Amino acid sequence: MSKKFDVAVLGATGTVGQAMIEILSEEKFPINRLYPLASHRSKGESVIFNDETLVVDDVETFDFTKVQIALFSAGGSVSAKYAPIAARAGCIVIDNTSHFRNDDDIPLVIPEVNPDDIQYYKNRNIISNPNCSTIQMLVALKPIYDVAGISRINIATYQSVSGTGKAAIEELARQTIDSLSGRDVTSEVYPMQIAFNLIPHIDAFEPNGYTKEEMKMVNETRKILNDKEIKVNPTAVRVPVFFGHAEAIHIETKKKLSAHEAKELLSKAPGVIVKDKLENHGYPSPVTEASGKNAVFVGRIREDISHEFGLNFWVVADNIRKGAALNSIQIAQILVRDYL
Ligand code: A2P
Repeated sequence: MSKKFDVAVLGATGTVGQAMIEILSEEKFPINRLYPLASHRSKGESVIFNDETLVVDDVETFDFTKVQIALFSAGGSVSAKYAPIAARAGCIVIDNTSHFRNDDDIPLVIPEVNPDDIQYYKNRNIISNPNCSTIQMLVALKPIYDVAGISRINIATYQSVSGTGKAAIEELARQTIDSLSGRDVTSEVYPMQIAFNLIPHIDAFEPNGYTKEEMKMVNETRKILNDKEIKVNPTAVRVPVFFGHAEAIHIETKKKLSAHEAKELLSKAPGVIVKDKLENHGYPSPVTEASGKNAVFVGRIREDISHEFGLNFWVVADNIRKGAALNSIQIAQILVRDYL
């Protein structure tokens, strides 16, 4: 009989945690016992896993020696506190927050891009899951990077509110209804109205004028590709979409690559589906392709008419699945297959 594992999901009542539980079941992850964890606020709440009702535990009093793997998605400060506790208890933490991503001894992994880095989990028993926007960008660009090299990436993101969590999903729904009903619109999660609007501000501002979200894409790309030279220039925008992030990506390759060659490479790439026809709905969108799906969808593949080595792409993916929960579980799958 193949080996089974005891697994904890921290943030089990949240948007990503719920998706983790769903995907563990869909993927038939070899689980012996699942422990859903959240804060004391959720104590007594329940979640459904494989048709079974499981009661949510308070992480504060949870004994991490009971599990071999823990998937964390409850915010950076929660990971800062509990990941070292879990790791010391002998549990391997796959952390979806940004807290450990820049630590040199913590692997930052996208299974389609740098699966071999998983081996470095042994350093601290922690593996970081990258930012949602970085994941879908690099899944799409890795096949191009390997063949033609990439010197520069210009990117504008169109990020759905589910990336912020449950409260933001509720805020967009409420503001949409209030706005269409002629009532005053109030904002609690975002700095201004998100319904029928665009907000060019995700996470805090840095002294260089970029936001933390944008700098995550810069630093994480360099770490994952192990390429300190690659130039990344992002603008991250929150849009009034519930699920699915989109990205307009403009790259400069080191060797000339035609749009046709890029399309061929992407058609064979793991985790990628190309939808690229010059017709109505010949391209992917968050609602029609990405939401609820596991793949990264790529369309609008074309040569940049303003730059000899330039290529353009439109990339969409479900930010909760491939951008967070699914990527973490794919890391766990490699971990149990190759290391445990
Ligand atoms: P809780 O519902 O008990 O606060 P989302 O990103 O969708 O808002 O979800 C956040 C998840 O992280 C929830 O499951 C939430 O649980 C959990 N969480 C937030 N703060 C803490 C904390 N201090 N300790 C444990 N879990 C937390």
